[in-house]
Amino acid sequence: MDFITWTDKMSVGVDSLDADHKKLLGIFNRLHRLIREKDETEKLSLIIEELDEYAGYHFNTEEKILSLCKYPDLEVHKTHHEKISKTLSKFMAKHKKGTDLAKNLEFYDFVSDWMLRHVLGEDRKYVEHISNRNNKKVG
Ligand SMILES: [Fe+2]
Ligand SMILES: [Fe+2]
Repeated sequence: MDFITWTDKMSVGVDSLDADHKKLLGIFNRLHRLIREKDETEKLSLIIEELDEYAGYHFNTEEKILSLCKYPDLEVHKTHHEKISKTLSKFMAKHKKGTDLAKNLEFYDFVSDWMLRHVLGEDRKYVEHISNRNNKKVG
């Protein structure tokens, strides 16, 4: 069962960013199944690599869009992304050294927090700004 199911309420109002967030939540749900439901149909290393690659791509895209929209809190938002990237890199390094992250609840908590607090929290802070800009453009 999915831990987080996407609903339209989660939309940030930009189709490409919504698609990225859906993809990230999808990766997280697979990780959740693997760790919490002990579903071993997937390999943890593949999920972690996908998460790392996709996070890098998504943070870049989101920052570019926010920059184009002149989002005033872009620098703060970037620091959140950097912190997530650094923590993820640390876990990746542990994983490469042989730590079994499937049994590491700190790793699970970190990714849950990222999805719940950042994707469904911090990222929502720019929704109003983007929506106001779009309305101004149309009006
Ligand atoms: Fe995001
Ligand atoms: Fe973000």
